[in-house]
Parts: sequence; structure tokens; C-alpha cells
Amino acid sequence: MNFLRHLCFTLLVSLPLGVAAQNTGPDKPSDFLDKEFHRQRREVLRQQLPPRSVAVLFSNPIRNRANDVDFHFHQHPDFYYLTGYREPNAVLLLFSDQHMVNGVATEEILFAQARNPQAESWTGKRLGEEGVERHLGLTHALPATAFAGFKLDTAAYDQILFLELPHDVRNDPNNSADLYDLVAQFKQKIGLTEGKDFAHQELFQIIKMYDAQGGARVQQEVQRQMRANPNLAKNPTLNAYVNAKDAAARAAVVKGMPKEKADITWLDGALSEMREVKTPQELTLLRKAVAMSAIGQVEVMKAMHPSMSETEVQGIHEFVYKKYGAEYEGYPSIVGAGNNGCILHYVENEKPKLGTDLVLMDLGAEYHGYTADVTRTIPANGKFSPAQAQIYELVYAAQEAGFNACKPGNAFNAPDQAAQKVMTDGLIKLGIIKNAQEARRYTMHGVSHYIGLDVHDRGTYGPLKPNSVITVEPGIYIPEGSPCDKKWWGIGVRIEDDILITEKGWENLSKGAPRTIKEIEATMAQPSPLDNFKLPVLK
Ligand code: GLY
Ligand code: MN
Ligand code: MN
Repeated sequence: MNFLRHLCFTLLVSLPLGVAAQNTGPDKPSDFLDKEFHRQRREVLRQQLPPRSVAVLFSNPIRNRANDVDFHFHQHPDFYYLTGYREPNAVLLLFSDQHMVNGVATEEILFAQARNPQAESWTGKRLGEEGVERHLGLTHALPATAFAGFKLDTAAYDQILFLELPHDVRNDPNNSADLYDLVAQFKQKIGLTEGKDFAHQELFQIIKMYDAQGGARVQQEVQRQMRANPNLAKNPTLNAYVNAKDAAARAAVVKGMPKEKADITWLDGALSEMREVKTPQELTLLRKAVAMSAIGQVEVMKAMHPSMSETEVQGIHEFVYKKYGAEYEGYPSIVGAGNNGCILHYVENEKPKLGTDLVLMDLGAEYHGYTADVTRTIPANGKFSPAQAQIYELVYAAQEAGFNACKPGNAFNAPDQAAQKVMTDGLIKLGIIKNAQEARRYTMHGVSHYIGLDVHDRGTYGPLKPNSVITVEPGIYIPEGSPCDKKWWGIGVRIEDDILITEKGWENLSKGAPRTIKEIEATMAQPSPLDNFKLPVLK
């Protein structure tokens, strides 16, 4: 008995209980991004690579939950975008020029998890090098174990481009080619010593972008960051910048900023530009993710009643989009009744009874990598009270103003400015605030971000471009104890829709979720298939 327990323990410890990434195959959904999509993305990126450069990208880490149980593995969105690979412990190299590997000329290598039948029987099938070439279409794949011996001849490159390296990866003692090892091997190859970081490159970037617009403020920010990080405090260029006496002196420092071989900003910028504008394949998946999330809102509206709990509401949403085949939630689901709705990212969702509260529900399906982000706020008893309705109408009007500012070429913050103005004027009119300066107390967040492979997706945050998708999500939150009439306390309203920027204007991808008070109350009055779904009472 003891021996058996020991054996079981050994197996569990050596093969952690995680949920493996799925790979392609006949028993998988067929509407994932195809290998041609990923190939083209690599090609577009490679075309822009500076001469004599190599781009190096790592997969996401496996995160441990406790003991031998890991959190569900989710691929790094940039890595997925460029490869379609959904497994951990991998590194991608893209070369600006052809590179000889084992006597073969190639422009790309994916170092992938090697096949391992024993491990695969616990944590799922792996593609292996052969599968990577066959199913993902990469021209060259090697086992991750070959990365240690792979010669990255730094003298052959003028630039080595990568994203900020992960600092907090666990080392699996049973795997000599896990992400921990791959990152350590890479650092060694490029001579990156312990304690060196790249924070100065990010600051150089900020200075280059904003110095001309507001040098004095940028100087203050740089000084603040230098106080917090000894590496920055020692940097001669940053010292010259903060000590520059006027605009001409600052400009001279900016002009002389050194270009370093190891660079963490170039890829960041290039991928942000690429991922901002969606291809038709991406839009097909994003439309599906948003549509099923909107349908979840409809079904919850029909099913909701005052004796429901926040967690039950969450469950109905998630069931609906899982029924459509969504793999994950795009971000932790938010279901906040009353005062809980005033906490922007409330994720406990543990209030046992909704009562007559307004319920703020911010949920998005992730479908084959692409995530929706849709919020509706509805009264648990099916009827808005007069105070709830007044705040709701104000947020609604702000959202309409935000929509109308969605035009290609408009500044990214145009919807935010339009919506904020409506909310500020309205809050003054309702007597909740006295002047515009007080508005931010109740309207704490910006109104838009891109969505895509991330809920807060990459993008340039520059002028709006056709085929990008942004949220328009004004909100007013009045927690209990706020300095206003008590009748407003505990009212939190956010209305969030996912807006495709078109050639001429915008399209609301989440319009399937009722948005006016009239539509919401009418939908809530409809019967739900869950009305007769009764479970035994637990003792
Ligand atoms: N669900 C997170 C957000 O709205 O940004
Ligand atoms: Mn959002
Ligand atoms: Mn949201």
C-alpha cells in the first residue's frame, strides 16, 4: 500500500496535473486561424526587420496554482499570432536574412517541445518538430532541447530584437528545455548579465515620442523613474536628459541616443502596429466571440430574478458561450450587484442574492484566441427604479456620443472625450457634482481600448484605423458613502460595446445585446428555458 502511494506520488510530482494546450488535428474545431494566416504574419514582420537582425520570441510560462496543479496554459498572444503554436516551452527565431541551419538555408526556426509519449499521456498531445512543420507550416523546427547548443552568432547581427523577458518563470527540474532554461540560454548567448535590465530603452522610447510635446513633464517622469530604479539612475543618457536646460539641449540628447544591439522596443512597436488592424480571418473569429457574448447577455436578461446569486449569473453567461465552443473567458468575468458594480474589476462574484440591485455584467468569450468585451447593466427585478434609470440614461447618452466619434482618422481618445463631456454635464445637471473637476470621482476609467487576441489588445493608440476593433464603454459608479444624495448610492452603470472601425465610420458588433431601457425591460419579461430548471436542494 505504501509502495503504491509512493509510486502514485512520484508520478504525480514528476508529471504535473495541468491542462495541456490543444493542437491541430481531426478531433479539433476546424475554424481556427489557418497556417497561411500565421505564415503571412511572419512574412509581414520579417519584411520590416532591420537589416542583419534576428527576432526572438518566447512562449508563455506555465503558471502553478498549487502543488502539482497548474493553471490552464494560455499561449502568449504574440507567439500565437506568429505561429499558431499552442504549447509551452518554445522559442521562435525569425531572421532578416537566410540563415544556415544544419546545412539548410532558412528564415525561421521554431524550437518546440519534443514528443514524449509518457508525458503526452498525462498532459496532452504535442506536435513535436515534425508536427510543427506539417500542421503549422513553419519551414524549420527543432526540439527545444537543441536550443542550448544552437549557435546564435551575435557578431553576425546588428540587432537582436525581443520582447521584455519574463522574470518570474519556474524551473521544472525534470525538463532541461523548459521556458526557464530557454530564457537563461538566450541570455547567455547574447551576454546578458545578471541585474541588467532594459528599462532605459523603454524610457528612451517615451522620450523620443513625447519630448517635443511636453519636455518638462517628460523630464519629471524620467526623474521619478530614475529614483525608483538604480540601473536607470546610473544611465548617462538619462542623466544628460534630465539635466538639459532647454528644448535645444533636450533635442541634442534625443538625437544622440545610442542604438543598442539587444533591443526590446522594436518588436513591441512592430507587433502593436500589425495587431491593431485585423485581417478578414481575425474579424470572422472576433465577430463570433462578440456575437456569442451578446447572446449570453440576452439569455441572462431572460433568466434573471432577485433570488439569483452573482455566481449563478456568471455561470449562465459562461455556459452560453461554451455552448458555442468558446474555450475560455477573455478575462475574469465580472458580475457585480449594487455597490459591487462600483468596483471596476470586481471578480469575486459572491453575493448570494441580487435583490433589487442593478447588476453590472462585464463578460467576454474567448473564441479560438479572440476575445469579446461586452457589458450590460440591468435591474435584477426587471424594472429600473427612477434613480437607476436616470444614471443609466446618462451613460447611454455618453455611449452614443462615443459611437459618433468613431471614425477613421479621429484621435484614439475622441470617443473618450465625447463621452466624458456628456457624463460631466449630466452629473452636474443631476446635482451629483458641482463642477467638471469632480467628475472623475464617478467616471474613473477611459472609454476605449482595442480588443483582439488580448482583451486590452496591442495597438498604436494613434488615429483610428479601419478594421481595428475598439470598445466604447462609458461608466458612472457611485459607491455607498459618496458625497451626494443617498438615493444615488450603490448605483454603478457601465455599458460596453465592441465597435469595428469601418472605412466610413463604425459598426457595433455587440448590437445583439439589448441596450435601451425599453429593450432591456422587454427582454427581461420574456420566459427563459432556465425558468423550469430545478435542482435538488442540498442539505
Ligand atoms: N473587461 C475589462 C474592460 O472592460 O476593460
Ligand atoms: Mn473593456
Ligand atoms: Mn469589459
